[in-house]
Amino acid sequence: MLIDLTASGEELLKQKPKYSGKSVELVATMDSKIVGFLDIELESSPGKICHKKVEGNGMLWDIGVMKEYRKRGIATRLLNEGIGRAKKYGLQRLEAWTVEENAKPFYERYGFTKFYEYHHVRINGREKLRAFDRNGLHIVSLYAHVMPETDLEDIIEKYKPKEVFTCSGFEINVTTRPINKKRSKTEGDHTRAQEKRSHNNR
Ligand SMILES: CC(C)(COP(=O)(O)OP(=O)(O)OC[C@H]1O[C@@H](n2cnc3c(N)ncnc32)[C@H](O)[C@@H]1OP(=O)(O)O)[C@@H](O)C(=O)NCCC(=O)NCCS
Repeated sequence: MLIDLTASGEELLKQKPKYSGKSVELVATMDSKIVGFLDIELESSPGKICHKKVEGNGMLWDIGVMKEYRKRGIATRLLNEGIGRAKKYGLQRLEAWTVEENAKPFYERYGFTKFYEYHHVRINGREKLRAFDRNGLHIVSLYAHVMPETDLEDIIEKYKPKEVFTCSGFEINVTTRPINKKRSKTEGDHTRAQEKRSHNNR
């Protein structure tokens, strides 16, 4: 099952991703249905998937809870369980990236800190994009990353993007931070975090 939980509706996946590295992939079930999920992939060598090149890195590729089940502690419980399992594979630092405004306070509340920020812009309009034409391609729409060293206001002024998203990178050191002990409001009844698949290269 795939659920569109993104505010922007961008890059809706048709299939659940497969990871080449060790991974922890969990779903939370309630009322006999999947209401949340989490995917963590551990990095096989520093810098392969994460921005910071350090040992023991993992990427939180996905975490989501269905709208009507949010703010009940389900994502916290998924993260607690996911981090606990990933630590057994050597996870020391977890990285997470998001453009979703509702996810940012959640990460901060959990104990992540923001370490990077850049922007995504969508620019439509043939005239504005003519300068990017190359190899016989006439660019009519562009989705681009504006890196921190570039002045976003200049880009906005010049290209008047249709959409601008702020993408934030969060990190947490899981070796020094105890697992979030807050009890899920639904814990003990129907909610359980299940390990859907945990494949690795052991
Ligand atoms: C972000 C998300 C996973 C949080 O799931 P959740 O199950 O509602 O989170 P929890 O109930 O465990 O919340 C834990 C804490 O974060 C806070 N929090 C969660 N969502 C929040 C929001 N939108 N705004 C402010 N705080 C929020 C909660 O209030 C809670 O704090 P508390 O302990 O003081 O009560 C969920 O909103 C979601 O699926 N969003 C869409 C998908 C997404 O953005 N995924 C992440 C990026 S890929």
